[in-house]
Amino acid sequence: MSEAIAYERVGDIAVLKAQNPPVNALGVDVRKGLLAGIERAEQDGAKAVLIYGEGKTYFAGADIREFGKPPQEPWLPGLCSRIEATPLIVVSAMHGTALGGGLEVALASHYRIAVPSAKMGLPEVNLGILPGAGGTQRLPRVAGTEAALEMITTGRHISAAEALEKGIIDRIEDGAPREIGLAYAQELLAQGAPRRAVGEMPAPEAVDFDAVYEATLKKGRGQLSPAVAVRAVQAAAEAESFEAGLKRERELFMELMDSDQRQGLIHAFFSERAVSKLPELDGVAPRDVASMGVIGGGTMGAGIATAALLAGLPVVLIEMTDEAAAAARGRIEGNLKGALKRGKISQEQYDQLTGDALTVATDYAALSAVDLVVEAVFEDMGVKREVFGKLDAHCKPGAVLATNTSYLDVDEIAAATSRPQDVIGLHFFSPAHVMKLLEVVVAEKTAPEVLATGFALGKRLKKVTVRSGICDGFIGNRIMNAYRKAAEYVVLDGASPYQVDKVVTGFGFPMGPFAMGDLAGLDINWAARKRRAPTRDPRERVPRFYEMLCEGGDFGQKTGKGFYVYEEGRRGGVPNPEVAALIAKDQEQQGVSPREFSDAEVLRRYMCAMVNEAAKVVGEGIARRPLDVDMVMLFGYGFPRFWGGPLKWADLQGLDGILADIRAYAAEDGFFWQPAPLLEQLVAEGRTFDSLNKGS
Ligand code: 3HC
Ligand code: NAI
Repeated sequence: MSEAIAYERVGDIAVLKAQNPPVNALGVDVRKGLLAGIERAEQDGAKAVLIYGEGKTYFAGADIREFGKPPQEPWLPGLCSRIEATPLIVVSAMHGTALGGGLEVALASHYRIAVPSAKMGLPEVNLGILPGAGGTQRLPRVAGTEAALEMITTGRHISAAEALEKGIIDRIEDGAPREIGLAYAQELLAQGAPRRAVGEMPAPEAVDFDAVYEATLKKGRGQLSPAVAVRAVQAAAEAESFEAGLKRERELFMELMDSDQRQGLIHAFFSERAVSKLPELDGVAPRDVASMGVIGGGTMGAGIATAALLAGLPVVLIEMTDEAAAAARGRIEGNLKGALKRGKISQEQYDQLTGDALTVATDYAALSAVDLVVEAVFEDMGVKREVFGKLDAHCKPGAVLATNTSYLDVDEIAAATSRPQDVIGLHFFSPAHVMKLLEVVVAEKTAPEVLATGFALGKRLKKVTVRSGICDGFIGNRIMNAYRKAAEYVVLDGASPYQVDKVVTGFGFPMGPFAMGDLAGLDINWAARKRRAPTRDPRERVPRFYEMLCEGGDFGQKTGKGFYVYEEGRRGGVPNPEVAALIAKDQEQQGVSPREFSDAEVLRRYMCAMVNEAAKVVGEGIARRPLDVDMVMLFGYGFPRFWGGPLKWADLQGLDGILADIRAYAAEDGFFWQPAPLLEQLVAEGRTFDSLNKGS
């Protein structure tokens, strides 16, 4: 018998226990064990079979690590058919998360029971594939076409209660899965309950599948798997037989399995988990954080305080004046009201979080007991250094002192204190209680346990936490500056901002760079440009139309006008007709003759700039691995998950072609388009960025 599946007889029942930690993934050994278990049960006279999982869960799905490798027999679809076809009565008892292939094994069983806390779903589309072991054929037969389409196209996990209501499981029982499963199987045998194969149930009703397909495709912003999954469910309703439906499901599954999007999404799945595992933190204990201070209660400070409160950390927030402190409290209460409205917290929790848990003050003495402080005051070195001087004077020894600066040098900020080893950058993204990314910026003297504390805080706040070294803009903003510049250059040379935004959203970003600038406030970037101007290299091309817009007082959404015009009560904006004249003036002053750009070229330049800067960030050690960059771009900048991140995208396109294009662009502007040495090296060695992720 396989070690992955234990076999035991309890009276008339053959018990198959999965023991493949951590999540009982259905790898080849588990599949072999299940097949052998069913065969043995048939041979040794059992009347029923119970399948359940040891440890924290029933099967959480196929083994994702096997994807892209040659498949090994027995395959999961055949195994599910074999389980369903046995004359014995098969019961699955579920706990933990019965996902993907796991739920498919349960659906191939004849009866299903679950503990109340069990979750289940078919999340395959989030990995770029579709349920490939009969899920698209069996789920609609038990839950109906509409419910199955919703679950399969979103990949949503549902509760046991919802599964019962939808007819996906037969019963909910509290207890250990083995005990409730055995009791249920015994009861079924005593009743003489029939074998009940879902595959033999009538086909589900048809709906307007073309309309669902179109709507799903549109919602996916370029992601294909949910839409293709609709076609598989369609086969359940329309194919000649259950077997023909399974065959169609298989074809569509293989199509997606071979796609780049599957590679991108699986890269995202594993990278999301690998990103906060740093070898340098092995065995380093973080400092205890039981309370937090926040300095500055503007956009970011209020968001950071909200995130901390929602994670159960009491917050002391410091502002400059009583009025500003009251305004900060108002912002935090507004954020928490949103959480209350969405059912994330109860009224009682709201009262507690805005009452006892939150203190706003103007005197830094209120910080004397906090374990960690995040500074989020104006982006100005003088102001930040003054604040850190005060923190040094008021915070207890061992308190972690963090800055949320977007661009400034954390070493210089740390030098304003007598304890630079306690200083770190914690760079949140706006809105900080919503955005999933946290960059942890390590300064020269940051102590290892302070870095570990940054990562522990990120985990507590449920952020995707990425380590960054120090440079202008850290990982994310530095790369963003490069691709935003590329966008401005193509506009200066003849493309329109609206073409660029359209191309970029067509690629899968939620917003293009110009609409994004309007949202963030053009004045913020304008200030950064002014700050950089004195030290700018004379070889750098500088588009001026952006600043011309700001000089006219148009800062984007906050002033009602920027690259777009925003009208009250209307979502999004319409192109600002004044922008074309500003661009034309800029072109004239710089002696540029505008030309046409194809959408493909606009995208290529945008992406090449992103990849090239990302390669520099990795090459310089600012990001430790390519996957760190990929996760920053996915969780902080809206990079489409189905491409896995810019460096995974680059691998999929071919690095040699990207380098060749960068060299060709360099013929026009050799200063901006300097190829990253790491990119050159990888091309010379015939390697990929992903090869640098291995072993991490
Ligand atoms: N295959 C291989 N490894 C898996 C896995 C899977 N299906 N699911 C999780 N793991 C690994 C993780 O990579 C992680 O490994 P690590 O410790 O080395 O980093 C470990 O198991 C624990 O996972 P998490 O850290 O995510 O643990 P959580 O408790 O937070 O979450 C979970 C558990 C909800 C099961 C989550 O891991 C998850 O969502 N897994 C993916 C589930 C899924 O997508 N299943 C469908 C697979 S596709 C399929 O079944 C195709 C079929 O239709 C043919
Ligand atoms: P903001 O202008 O909205 O808020 C700053 C707040 O700090 C104001 O309420 C101000 O009264 C307060 N403040 C100033 N000096 C102070 C002092 N000495 N003591 C106490 N309070 C003081 O600015 P925002 O956007 O919240 O940015 C704050 C920091 O976060 C900046 O460093 C910024 O670069 C960074 N950041 C901003 C992001 C954004 O999208 N807005 C994203 C990530 C980081």
